[in-house]
Order: sequence, then C-alpha cells, then structure tokens
Amino acid sequence: MLTDAHTHILPDMDDGSESVEMSMQMLAQLHAQGAECVVATPHFYLHREKRAADYLQRRQARFDTLLKQQPPVELLLGAEVAIEQGISDVPELAQLAVSGTDLILLELPYAPYQSWMEAEIHAIAVQHGLTPVIAHIHRYLMWYTEEEFNTVLGWDAIFQINVEAFEGFRQNRIAREVFKRKLPFLFGSDCHNLSDRKPNFDLLRRKLKSEVLDQANRVFRQHRKG
Ligand SMILES: [Fe+2]
Repeated sequence: MLTDAHTHILPDMDDGSESVEMSMQMLAQLHAQGAECVVATPHFYLHREKRAADYLQRRQARFDTLLKQQPPVELLLGAEVAIEQGISDVPELAQLAVSGTDLILLELPYAPYQSWMEAEIHAIAVQHGLTPVIAHIHRYLMWYTEEEFNTVLGWDAIFQINVEAFEGFRQNRIAREVFKRKLPFLFGSDCHNLSDRKPNFDLLRRKLKSEVLDQANRVFRQHRKG
C-alpha cells in the first residue's frame, strides 16, 4: 500500500490546506497519483503550543471533518514534530505518533548541528517507545558538515524523503545515499496546497523503480500495529 507519510492536508490547521474543499482536492490528486494511504502531519511546535492537549483536540476536530467527506484513500493522523530542547518531556508525545503505528515524524532545526538534537531524539525513542522518522532528510544538508551528516544517517531512525528530492541533483544524492546504505526510508509529498506545494506523488512513480516503492511500503507495514 503506497503511503504518503508527510502531508499538511488537514484543513485550517497549519500553513497547509486552507479549507475542506482544498483538502479533498489534494486527497483526490494523491489518490490519482497512486497513494493509497495518506498521513496527515500538521506542524507541532512546542514553543507555540501552550498545551499539547489543545493541539490534539484541534487536530482531531479537523480530521473528523475531513473523514465525513469520505476521502478516497485511507487517512491516518500524525504530526510533524519540531525537534526543540525539551520536546522529549512532552507527556502526550505518543499521541503525536502516526495512528496505529509507533512512528513519529520529527523535523530537525534549520540550524547548525547541535548534540542536544540527538539526545532529544534518543529520549523520544527510549522514554516514549517510539520510532523516530527524520522528516525530509535531504533538506538539512546546507547546515551540516559531511561528518555531521554521517552522524545523522547513523541514528537508529527511519529517513523520510520528500518526492521533491528527485527533482534536483543535490538532494537526489542524499536519497541515493540512503538507498545505498540500505537505511529504512519512507516517502512523503509534504504537500501544503494546490499551487506551489501541491501533491506530486506522480513524480515518485516516474523516477523510481517499483522495488524501491515496495521497500518503503514494507517499512510502513512493519510499524503498523495489529
Ligand atoms: Fe512538512
């Protein structure tokens, strides 16, 4: 089952879809592009949320609204959790994981590498029993040295690759590196709207062999409970 593991498809939740109509059009496009399962991963920023419970309630309400429209794909709830100092102390963290899995999508800071990042991610895995999924792994290149990047690729994590990585040579190189090292990976469109960041799963199917898509499907399946 081809899964889009990273989308901003919930209506009026973050900087993604602006309405239920837009969300439904985005879902229809993803479906036409071959996605069978879509994970809604609205941004979660600890420094902006006074209470995680409020975010969870807001997210559930948007999700329920969308489900009533009967999306053409399986829709799962998740979040794109920004790695900040103290994030691993949030008691509700497991509720930010992709529903029915132990996967939690984590966005690294767009800043030079710092060792506390690894400590937070390790604590999320150990204290909350979750499997970290590093969001769009090819997006942080400009911030890290080659050595630091190697450290990140050595983490006990899954690496999420945006479809856009297959448009450019530089980001493509990182995706190929993940494949070459046989690291576990998932794909995401990271779609936000119907214009400049629209669903683009068709590119994935054009650029990659079906075996590679199967590998991502397998990783997702392995982490589904029950
Ligand atoms: Fe995102």
